[in-house]
Amino acid sequence: MSTGWAKGIIVRMTKRRLLSTSVLSADLGCLAEEIHSVEGAGADWIHVDVMDGHFVPEISFGPVIVKACRAATSLPLDVHLMVEDPGSRIASYIDAGANWLSVQIEACVHIDRVLRAIRERGAHPGIVLNPGTPAASLKEILHLVDLVLVMTVNPGYSGQSFLPHVAHKVAEIRSMLDETGSSARLEVDGGIAPATVPVMIEAGADTFVAASAIFKHPQGAAAGTMELIEAIRGLEG
Ligand code: DX5
Ligand code: ZN
Repeated sequence: MSTGWAKGIIVRMTKRRLLSTSVLSADLGCLAEEIHSVEGAGADWIHVDVMDGHFVPEISFGPVIVKACRAATSLPLDVHLMVEDPGSRIASYIDAGANWLSVQIEACVHIDRVLRAIRERGAHPGIVLNPGTPAASLKEILHLVDLVLVMTVNPGYSGQSFLPHVAHKVAEIRSMLDETGSSARLEVDGGIAPATVPVMIEAGADTFVAASAIFKHPQGAAAGTMELIEAIRGLEG
């Protein structure tokens, strides 16, 4: 442990586990109703996946949709930028209502500057790692972030299969956070469903993103939300 007050002791931060529902799989024709439905069922955050057609092949949302989500709910907005040169885009997303703003480490030349700029603009900075990016790439920036998002699929689409080998990296980052006394959240995104949550909890994740398990649930988004909350927090919700 690197903190002076508890030298030699590694403190595992325990936090309430949170569900962040990704509107990428929502019915956009009734976005506000979809958000109200997951909010009413107990979702903690709304996750907004921004894709620019360059960093990932598809184009999804921009600040206008973040603004629409902001108007629909007071839940925290967890905005995931899958864009090239994210440093030039952060002001628009924070001004549109993002509370948490995460950038892909692979897309950032000046990552230290970008993470500081997110905090200065008033949002919680997050860093995202693709499946092929090692935990060690976080070493020099961990102190700058409030959230580490580990992709458990290759980014760009909802509905992909969970990559189980990423669990070892989640566990490695959990250890890095605990050893440095960081209180950053450890979020996982991609193929998260009741069947994949236990291995992620075991690895030390505390924040869970899901799109298709929520919005494509056969009984509807509220049922999907309740099922996942039960998986991540148990019956007490
Ligand atoms: C993937 C996005 C995810 C996606 C998850 O690039 O970052 O947030 O919406 O979708 P599911 O939960 O269906 O894997
Ligand atoms: Zn995402």
